[in-house]
Amino acid sequence: MEKGKMIYEGKAKKVFKTDDPQQFLVEFKDDATAFDGVKKDKLEDKGILNNRLSAIFFGLLETEGVETHYVKTVSEREMLVKSLEIIPVEVIVRNIAAGSMSKRLGLPEGEALNKTVIEFSLKDDELHDPMINHYHIYAMDLAKAEEMATIEASALKINDILTAYLKDKGITLVDFKLEFGRHQGRVILGDEISPDTCRFWDSSSGEKLDKDRFRRDLGGVIEAYREVLRRLEGSE
Ligand code: TMP
Ligand code: ASP
Repeated sequence: MEKGKMIYEGKAKKVFKTDDPQQFLVEFKDDATAFDGVKKDKLEDKGILNNRLSAIFFGLLETEGVETHYVKTVSEREMLVKSLEIIPVEVIVRNIAAGSMSKRLGLPEGEALNKTVIEFSLKDDELHDPMINHYHIYAMDLAKAEEMATIEASALKINDILTAYLKDKGITLVDFKLEFGRHQGRVILGDEISPDTCRFWDSSSGEKLDKDRFRRDLGGVIEAYREVLRRLEGSE
């Protein structure tokens, strides 16, 4: 497998072509940003940890019958993935009120929701990823109705799988963000699953084990990511 031209650089990852048009190489960087890149830092080893954590989560989902873009881990910071045409819609799944939902709706952080909430945002940094609904998605032709049906069913299944798996490790899955893309006519899960894109709370102490430690200047960011990895690898 040849590492080819870089085709995309995001805030936390770079994507490269390979000699196989059906596969891309994703490289996880140490950069951390928040508030649309206004707050920036380098967190040593974050890329290594998120590469490992994403591989564990994608592997788990595959064994549970959810197709993801993950093919294999090729180095400390790189994974081989199926080439995707990313659908520019961020899919957020929430079990407990936190973050922007708490702010927007005046719900205390930590309040359990009676029903799982799915939200959509347009993936556009310049516009600050505005929240959108199905009407916007179809009006802007971001995805078709059948694709959205697949995405929502998949997001809820992923929530069930991850919630149960993490509960067993003493971690509460508060909320998370997913991105999907098209590959050979199918809509499959892409991007990453890591403490950058999920809220993980320690089930007994409520301690935050995710990127909120960076966003809110709580310190111990990398230590928290390492703790998540320790709990997941400890029982493999
Ligand atoms: P929010 O409460 O800030 O809207 O975040 C909801 C979830 O989405 C949370 O688990 C963090 C994740 N997230 C991202 O992955 N990328 C982002 O740019 C933002 C704002 C949130
Ligand atoms: N990834 C987003 C940004 O840079 C924000 C976040 O994760 O909070 O700015």
